[in-house]
Amino acid sequence: MTAAGKRDSGKAGQRESGAEAGRRGSGKRDRYQRGTDLSDIDAAAAAIRERAVGRFPRVAVVLGSGLGSLVEQFRDPVRIPYQAIPGFPDSTVAGHAGELVMGRLAGKEVLAQSGRFHLYEGHDAATVALPVRVFAALGVEILLLTNAAGGIRRTFSSGVVMLIADHINLTFRNPLIGPVLEDEERFPDMSQPYDEELKRLARQVALERQVGLEEGVYAQLLGPSYETPAEIRMLERLGADAIGMSTVLEVIAARARGMRCLGFSVITNPAAGISPQKLDHAEVLETANRVQLQVASLVEGVIAAMVVRPRND
Ligand code: HPA
Repeated sequence: MTAAGKRDSGKAGQRESGAEAGRRGSGKRDRYQRGTDLSDIDAAAAAIRERAVGRFPRVAVVLGSGLGSLVEQFRDPVRIPYQAIPGFPDSTVAGHAGELVMGRLAGKEVLAQSGRFHLYEGHDAATVALPVRVFAALGVEILLLTNAAGGIRRTFSSGVVMLIADHINLTFRNPLIGPVLEDEERFPDMSQPYDEELKRLARQVALERQVGLEEGVYAQLLGPSYETPAEIRMLERLGADAIGMSTVLEVIAARARGMRCLGFSVITNPAAGISPQKLDHAEVLETANRVQLQVASLVEGVIAAMVVRPRND
């Protein structure tokens, strides 16, 4: 189904999985095979502009599971439910709201994504990365990402916040597969996926605000089952400090458009086998909720300190 078609289909109140939406398809090309094209991006960006007239955010924040409260600090918030955005599926995961919120934070216009799309919901890599591409089309240049993750590094305890120094893509998916979109590179450099200057700001803000901040490598797997202890031992040997089911594909799409990225993982649990404890999503949400004010403080501090281009530049 085309983006415009989706807008007209009035899906409010219905819930459909990504896989169902995919099977419905476009008639000619199945959404889950074709990836994103420019009309998807343009239609979504136009719908957002219509609802947030005169708002020009340069910064977007992707809020991970249980980390949604940042938007409560926004001034003059405009909330845009995913149902109002062509091409955006509904968020189906507990702890993920399913809306964009535009508002002012630390004196800057910020766009927050509350509820992301995951591969494990049945979405393809292009759908996972669609919001990031739409943000770029809206003029966003800096992308801050947060997520909940299992701690692989043995000194990490639950509630630790980790600055993502680098990542490992273990999804074997990539949102850039397919035709090269305008404003994107075919072979983007990934030698600095997370921006050095933003990382420096994050460390400085953590010191000033006395928020403990570790640093390490985040690996993304497909999920949705948690890992086995053997898989975690393998990931440890591969150099991963934290494991989760998001973020990496979004950063790949962002880098292909030249956006600068910064990521924070909240270690919500010791990864499988690191402690004898069983894993469960309720615990993940509970820990994320417990430390979300600290993460919000880091994000707010970084936004306050960063320099963004003025609106008509
Ligand atoms: N594994 C994968 N994803 C996660 C975990 C985990 O242990 N905790 C939170 N997200």
